[in-house]
Amino acid sequence: MPSSQHGKTFDLVIAANRLPVDQVILDSGETEWRRSPGGLVTAMDSVMRDQPGAWVGWAGEPGEAPAPFDQEGTHLVPVALSAEEVRRYYEGFSNDTLWPIYHDVIVPASFHREWWTAYQRVNERFAEAVAEVAAPGARIWVQDYQLQLVPAMVRALRPDVRIGWFNHIPFPPVELFAQLPWRGQLLRGLLGADFLGFQRQADAQNFVRACRQLIHAETKAGTVAVDDGSGRRVRAAAIPISIDFKGLEALAREPSVGERAAEIREQLGNPKVLMLGVDRLDYTKGIRHRLKAYEELLADRRIGPPDVTLVQVATPSRERVAAYQHLRADVEQTVGRINGDLGQIGAPAVHYLHHAYPREEMAALFRAADVMLVTPLRDGMNLVAKEYVTCRFDLGGALVLSEFTGAWHELHQAFSCNPHDIEGLKQTILRAINTPEREKQRIMRALRKRVSDHDVQRWAARFLAALDAAPDRAEPNP
Ligand code: ADP
Ligand code: G6P
Repeated sequence: MPSSQHGKTFDLVIAANRLPVDQVILDSGETEWRRSPGGLVTAMDSVMRDQPGAWVGWAGEPGEAPAPFDQEGTHLVPVALSAEEVRRYYEGFSNDTLWPIYHDVIVPASFHREWWTAYQRVNERFAEAVAEVAAPGARIWVQDYQLQLVPAMVRALRPDVRIGWFNHIPFPPVELFAQLPWRGQLLRGLLGADFLGFQRQADAQNFVRACRQLIHAETKAGTVAVDDGSGRRVRAAAIPISIDFKGLEALAREPSVGERAAEIREQLGNPKVLMLGVDRLDYTKGIRHRLKAYEELLADRRIGPPDVTLVQVATPSRERVAAYQHLRADVEQTVGRINGDLGQIGAPAVHYLHHAYPREEMAALFRAADVMLVTPLRDGMNLVAKEYVTCRFDLGGALVLSEFTGAWHELHQAFSCNPHDIEGLKQTILRAINTPEREKQRIMRALRKRVSDHDVQRWAARFLAALDAAPDRAEPNP
């Protein structure tokens, strides 16, 4: 039963590994709150601006949790992680076990029993925090792969609430998922929910198939029967996430953003073609493949500075995980080589920026770029692709988009690529540069229509409606 220490309970409770803001401890010892990285926060922050609710999550630093506080209409409830839990639950099990398995094992996954123990313990802590702030009959919306045990744990604590879970990343084919020594527990954790949302139909199907093959659950028409004597069925369906189209377009239309876009081009020496990459520095994003294609195009003299330049923004991410350290070293070495071999005085071939920027600066970069390179090897959605077309109300620019993103299933009119095919990627980049303006405008109009018709507000409404309509609702406990 709800028993918040502060007596405050909420009809809508989000649980995500991260809060929308991170507490940063400065060298001076003072603390500051900064927007957290990643697409989950971009999307959920927009959703929560429109409705009251609580958000349970980690504040981004190990140690004691700060006290709960209100921010822009949302009640934020920090959950504490010890330094060891950050290593084992967050960097370990979440990002060195699950993340590689769920992204096609682009790098090998590590399995450690003590990481699993920490994952269970931290999921339990999240479930307790959720149970504490949930009003009777509340809707609980659990987010992403870090919290897959939370649905069943919340159900055990609070059988009166309605529980949904959304996976922001792909759900792997059963052959890969089956490698996980804790596969049965993960599936049973998720089956504690009433409704499970995925980015693509294929992800929902992979989940249902895993339940059938690995825990022998009975499945029918996108639902899984729960073998706990309750007779419950859990629905799994695709509800692809999106962005706040109206809000971002309004920002992109600000005169100051337009001026900054012009200034960026000027600072880059007014190239004929400005190419842009914007990613967390993650091996799933295909940054190495993109740089290889670009380097070869320069070496072949098909394009080159000062006419063409590439800005690669690579947000720092998961910097203590070895695969991310190797990627960073590799990317930075490659950028150095490309500039050394193929740049000119005053006209480097790649401008590499390893920072997070304010939203206005991102919008200006999108407005400035002639070709946007989105080349992941695997990505649940990729909101950057949707943000780019949203900012191009002028119908300018061209989007090169990997077939291995969730976004491609909605934006397949873009300049599609298979990033593994370097020769094909080079041709696609050249096509994106050379296609006549009118044709590019036609494509951009179609891409923008899709995002505008399917924005994040519609996504949230669809998810919550599916949660309410899911089969076998338990009676709320007054
Ligand atoms: P992921 O969630 O894997 O990081 P997405 O493309 O779905 O990938 O979302 C990334 C989000 O982070 C987008 O909203 C994007 O604008 C934002 N972002 C990426 N890089 C930066 C940066 N350097 N500074 C600020 N925001 C960034
Ligand atoms: C992706 C994941 C999110 C995660 C984000 C940033 O978007 O789906 O759950 O928050 O990346 O990663 P980080 O590890 O810094 O939270």
